[in-house]
Amino acid sequence: MKALVINGPNLNMLGQREPDIYGRRTYDDLVEICHEAGARVGFDEVVVFQSNHEGDIVDAIQNAWGTFDGIVINPAAYTHTSVAILDALKAVGLPAIEVHISAVEQREEFRQVSYARMACLATITGEGLDGYAHALDVLAKHLKDAK
Ligand code: DQA
Repeated sequence: MKALVINGPNLNMLGQREPDIYGRRTYDDLVEICHEAGARVGFDEVVVFQSNHEGDIVDAIQNAWGTFDGIVINPAAYTHTSVAILDALKAVGLPAIEVHISAVEQREEFRQVSYARMACLATITGEGLDGYAHALDVLAKHLKDAK
């Protein structure tokens, strides 16, 4: 089983970026959490990707088809704007889990819309970076059940 973890804009700034909201842990910590949790829940490989560019995220989703069994995605700000990311997730049809570090449902009105969510099996919010471990666990269980 192989999982692709996709991170959208500004998540490379974790640790420095609004620590009151996103915490002090860094993007490197996020990558380590994904690798550790992935191995623990049964993935042979977890690749972690980050881009600040919408088209590069669309490319990563398209390229996942045929290579990965599932996707964990935090589209960051593109969550609330990107029909292109939604369409890419629908196009590849891979099982996908949406994750947000913060509790988006308790934040501004403009964060209440998620396009990506419409193509995701589950959404995890407000668990900090541990939400990625949770998302990988949910994805692994889904893939095992689907076998
Ligand atoms: C985020 C929430 C988004 O609203 C925001 O634009 C982000 C991060 C989160 O992980 O909590 O960049 O996706």
